[in-house]
Order: sequence, then structure tokens, then C-alpha cells
Amino acid sequence: MSGDGPEIQIHADGAALVAATAETIIAAAARAIELRGRFTIALSGGSTPRAVYERLGADPALPWDRIEWCFGDERAVPPDHPDSNARMVRESLLRPGFCRPERVHRIPAELPPEQAAREYERSLRALFPGAAWPEFDLMLLGLGPDAHTASLFPHSPALAERAAWVADNWVQKLSAHRITLTFPAIKAARHVVFMVAGADKAPALRAALAEDGDVSAAPARGVRPEHGKLSYLVDRAAATQL
Ligand code: 6PG
Repeated sequence: MSGDGPEIQIHADGAALVAATAETIIAAAARAIELRGRFTIALSGGSTPRAVYERLGADPALPWDRIEWCFGDERAVPPDHPDSNARMVRESLLRPGFCRPERVHRIPAELPPEQAAREYERSLRALFPGAAWPEFDLMLLGLGPDAHTASLFPHSPALAERAAWVADNWVQKLSAHRITLTFPAIKAARHVVFMVAGADKAPALRAALAEDGDVSAAPARGVRPEHGKLSYLVDRAAATQL
């Protein structure tokens, strides 16, 4: 990881955090397009980033034809299911109509989980031809109250995956499969940005950033980019235990 330790930005409230996250993505897109002609981003699921996607989706000034929108993880449900991250992105980023659907590379989670993981990895390898790992320009991640990120949950099998880019992960506490990028795939990103909001995330944020701790118990601790930048964009409510 470049530098010493993550960049931590503490924002006054949720609205300020949404604005800062959107601005971070827009700036990263401009730089990536200037340097490499395109911007590749892996989107986080869950509820926290929705307002960011709504804000971005309504922005006609984004270089829409130069951005490839991918996912960090997906629930093992069809794309019209209420729990689907693809559905959340469709209803937020895609709804205003500036983003063309073919620029969104969803995880085909309507398939059996292992097949979905293999199909998604195939689509990512087509986006990053010849690469050892997918070098996303920006990896947007959330943080669960148990310090999971993407669908890398505490003590779950996919934490040990070191070869595949994408894994089918069995999450015991949910009694459910998830499809997720693996640690090496996440760590290959040029810039990893955690977006964390709310008092319920304060203990997980402390665990994620603490000097010592167990990655298996707090998987977000395992996200230390190999060469890229690591940023935590958080609101004041989540930062009370830092
Ligand atoms: C998912 C996410 C997951 C999420 C955290 C936080 O598919 O749910 O990728 O890692 O970011 O669980 O979720 P909230 O933003 O809803 O708190």
C-alpha cells in the first residue's frame, strides 16, 4: 500500500459523506480517462452507497461512454429480487437514463452461485485482458457491522481464496450463498474507498483500522491494496470510536 496507512476523511453527516464520495468517484474517473482512456469501478452493494449512485446517475456531465461499472459482490438472487445489488444500481444509477445498461457488468446471480462466480470472472477477464488481477481504477466498498466487506464475511471460506478473482462464498450467519470479489482481486485496485456511515458501524470501523486484529474476525482488515491507495470516507457517527 502506498504511503503509511489509510487516508481517513471524517464528514459531518450522511449528506456530506455522500457528496464527498461522489466527488471522489468523479475525480478518479477524470484522472483514469485522462491517463488510460477509460474508468473501471467496482460498486459496493447494500444501502449506504445508494444516494451516491442516485447523484451520479443524474449527472449528464459524467463521461458515461468511458466508464465501466462492475460490482464487488452480489447476493445469490435474481436481478429483480429486492435484495439484489444489481436491482439497487438499476433503480439508482441507471434510472435517470444517462448510463447505458451495457456499461453495467452485473454478476449473473440468477445462476447457481459457483457458475455465477465463474461467469462473472470471465466477464472481468474480458475487461482486463491478460491481467493477473483486475486493476480497477476505483473499488468502492462498504463495511458491515461485523466488519465484513463485499461479501467477505467473518470466518467464511472465501477469505482464504488466493487464486480466483471471484468466489462463491457460503455465509453461515445468513444461511446463504454470496458471490464476491476475493481479497487479491480487491487489493489489486488502484484506489480502494470504503464508504461508512452510521453509529452502528463504529465498532466495525475501529476493528478495521486498529493496529492489531484478526482478518478472519474482521475481514475489512484484509483490504490493504498492494500498490494502490486506501481511503476511508466516513461520517462522524461511524467515527466515534476512532
Ligand atoms: C452487500 C455489500 C456489503 C455492504 C455492507 C454494508 O452486498 O451488502 O456489498 O458489503 O457494503 O453490508 O451494507 P449497508 O451499506 O447496507 O450498511
